Amino acid sequence: MDSFEWTKIAGAGLGSLLMALLLSWLADVTFAVAEPEQPGFEIALLESGDDDASSASEAADEIASIGSRLAVADIAAGEKVFKKCVACHTVDNGGANKVGPNLWGVVGRTKATKDGFKYSAVLQDIGGEWTFEDLDHFLTKPKAFAKGTTMAFAGLKKPDDRAALIGWLNAQSDAPLAIPAE
Ligand code: HEC
Repeated sequence: MDSFEWTKIAGAGLGSLLMALLLSWLADVTFAVAEPEQPGFEIALLESGDDDASSASEAADEIASIGSRLAVADIAAGEKVFKKCVACHTVDNGGANKVGPNLWGVVGRTKATKDGFKYSAVLQDIGGEWTFEDLDHFLTKPKAFAKGTTMAFAGLKKPDDRAALIGWLNAQSDAPLAIPAE
């Protein structure tokens, strides 16, 4: 190899080095252009996250409706989930009220009406029947659904656990309700 060829090789090496530099500079430029979009996006997130109601509705958007979850729920698994409730509730027909009221037939029952149980005014004031939807909301976070309720239970975070439990509770009744449409 003569020195001319070495010069060509060195030249080629230098060329690719320049190319690499150029590419990395281009990448920087592209990145720098993309960057300003980031703060705007974060602010949008903060604004919507600020408000409890809107973040709750965002969460609700992601979770399938109780009707569609019930349609595929493992109802038998609901009995296991109910273990979290037995410290305070019986569910058998004619069972006693404990810390909380007996829950036989609670799905479809008018809220706060189990004979012989002293409910909080909060739960009495909500009124209406325990629909699948209301139970789903209540059991997600009792204190959020009924602010001031005496039910000292944090809530069931898993949507599928709630569906299984509510489906199973519905069957613990003289007159189980029809599962709502999806
Ligand atoms: C630490 C005790 C405790 C635990 C645990 C508990 N509850 Fe309760 N529950 C209560 C009390 C007390 C009330 C009455 C609340 C009120 O009057 O505000 C209640 C009320 C209810 C009601 C309303 C009943 C009605 O007649 O209107 C439902 C439904 C219910 N609980 C379901 C459950 C389920 C399901 C679980 C388990 C996932 C559970 N609870 C866990 C204490 C408890």
